[in-house]
Amino acid sequence: MYRSQNCGELRIDHVGQEVKLSGWVASNRDLGGMTFIDLRDRYGITQLVFNMDTDAGLCGEARKLGREYVIQIDGVVRERSSKNPQRATGEIEIEVTGLQVLNASKIPPFLIENDTDGGEELRMKYRYLDLRRDAVQSNIIFRSQVAQAIRKNLSAVDFVEVETPFLIKSTPEGARDFVVPSRLNSGQFYALPQSPQTFKQLLMVSGFDKYFQIVKCFRDEDLRADRQPEFTQLDCEMSFVTQDQVLDTFETLVRNIFREILDIELPSFPRMQYDDAMKYYGIDKPDLRFDMKIHHINDLAQGHGFAVFDNAESVVGICAKGCAVNYSNKDIKKLTEWVQRPQIGAKGLVYVKYGADGSIKSSVGKFYDDDQLKTWGEHFGAEAGDMLLILCGEEESTLKQMGQLRLEMGDRLELRDPSEFKPLWVLDFPLLEWDEESSRFHAMHHPFTSPKKADQERMLNGDHETMKALRADAYDMVINGVEIGGGSIRIHDRELQAKNFELLGFTPEEAEDQFGFLMGAFEYGAPPHGGIALGFDRLCAIMRGQNSIRDFIAFPKNNQGRDVMIDAPSPVDGEQLDELSLSLNLKA
Ligand code: AMO
Repeated sequence: MYRSQNCGELRIDHVGQEVKLSGWVASNRDLGGMTFIDLRDRYGITQLVFNMDTDAGLCGEARKLGREYVIQIDGVVRERSSKNPQRATGEIEIEVTGLQVLNASKIPPFLIENDTDGGEELRMKYRYLDLRRDAVQSNIIFRSQVAQAIRKNLSAVDFVEVETPFLIKSTPEGARDFVVPSRLNSGQFYALPQSPQTFKQLLMVSGFDKYFQIVKCFRDEDLRADRQPEFTQLDCEMSFVTQDQVLDTFETLVRNIFREILDIELPSFPRMQYDDAMKYYGIDKPDLRFDMKIHHINDLAQGHGFAVFDNAESVVGICAKGCAVNYSNKDIKKLTEWVQRPQIGAKGLVYVKYGADGSIKSSVGKFYDDDQLKTWGEHFGAEAGDMLLILCGEEESTLKQMGQLRLEMGDRLELRDPSEFKPLWVLDFPLLEWDEESSRFHAMHHPFTSPKKADQERMLNGDHETMKALRADAYDMVINGVEIGGGSIRIHDRELQAKNFELLGFTPEEAEDQFGFLMGAFEYGAPPHGGIALGFDRLCAIMRGQNSIRDFIAFPKNNQGRDVMIDAPSPVDGEQLDELSLSLNLKA
């Protein structure tokens, strides 16, 4: 037996008991007559004491133990004279009577403590050591709890967990595929799934009715804090459901998970039209932890001789609370530079400050008198001390810029509290997006998404302009400005699906070649169906108030898509390439 208890288990009630513990040496302090060792495992830390007076030999051995040695000890639990209230085991320590080294350790390349001295790359290279740190390890354990809770909750309402294949034909979800060469089918490739979309729809045709899977998905896209090339979805599909039923089912699931795991009662999720999200928040995933809605002020701003506003399609603003006082001219200049960065792309920034003393100051004061600017303030609900920030230009891009500025101000004013949760549904996305560059439509969600019932006739028979206005039964779940999940009611009719492919620029042959299997299945009694996929890594991160999904993935990739620990991707040898019929292609 290696242990009678773990390192997080012993309490004052155990005083006097003989115990056996195993774990890692987290620290070793030699105080002359006594040596103290902190013994760590996944459950906690227990203090060990070696006494020079009682056993000089054992104490000498203990002094030699380096950090991260794996040891096993026998000892007696005793009450500590100086207790550590920060630690669950802080009232006791173990007076050690026997010590065995189970394995030595080299000096680790960084401190295995929450406040580590290791940089990101180093910790990625030694991920197995980084995973010993409680800050990271607890995230992975948390992830496991969320997965268990999801399985329990979905099974309780009759969902069936089904695995779908990883070696498939590519599904167009908007990103690039990772491809896998086939040895047995020379010159041909599988694609790794960007999601199990078509398979889950086929499972509905098969009659499974309610499906879920916690599943790896693969997308060859540019990486960010909330994007990994391989990530996990909670993927779900249901038959004979309306959009409302899908939303209710997954709202209930997420509320149950928050309650069971975090003991947090989420409010019911408000439902917002896509058009309103764009109009009032400048983004399709609004962060509702703070208000600061976008106001449209063409009526107030135009026709007063300020050509920049007069010539703009759209003049929009937000009200930043308390910023009239805190923002000096220099700060405003910096903020203007911030909105002018290429990533944001605004031409300039106009401000109106409502001073605490009732004074009004504005960069466009020449064109508007105080009474007019006062009316603006009233329109925004501005109070003394507030500042309006105004952008203008082409409507769509200006709203996006304002959406970014709103988030930036939310950050600066510390209005985005990570321990607060503001979920919502965004509904009624456009079905298609017109792309000027390629002069064709793209599917806003994916090509299997159904237009709203009222729009189906117009989709089959309408002209080009009609297509731009089609709305889909598509929805996103958003929490704190993060897109946690997305889904839709699907097309289950061959004719409509073929029309959608046609609008997306597929010839009938291309559509048949790529999706004949799905359209064929629709001819054998496909039920009406719909579903959703939640980003599982994102859900876990948001639940713990964090932005980066990397720390919720045991072995993540870095920003270049590399696993620096195992050094992948890497070249393969010529023989392997020959077998896959790839060497010729590479040479060519
Ligand atoms: P979608 O493409 O919106 O929908 O993906 C669903 C959710 O998956 C998460 N996600 C990611 N998480 C981490 N890294 C990534 N690279 C990444 N890409 C997406 C997001 C997103 O909301 N088949 C459809 C779902 C459906 O229609 O049922 C789909 O995959 O949280």
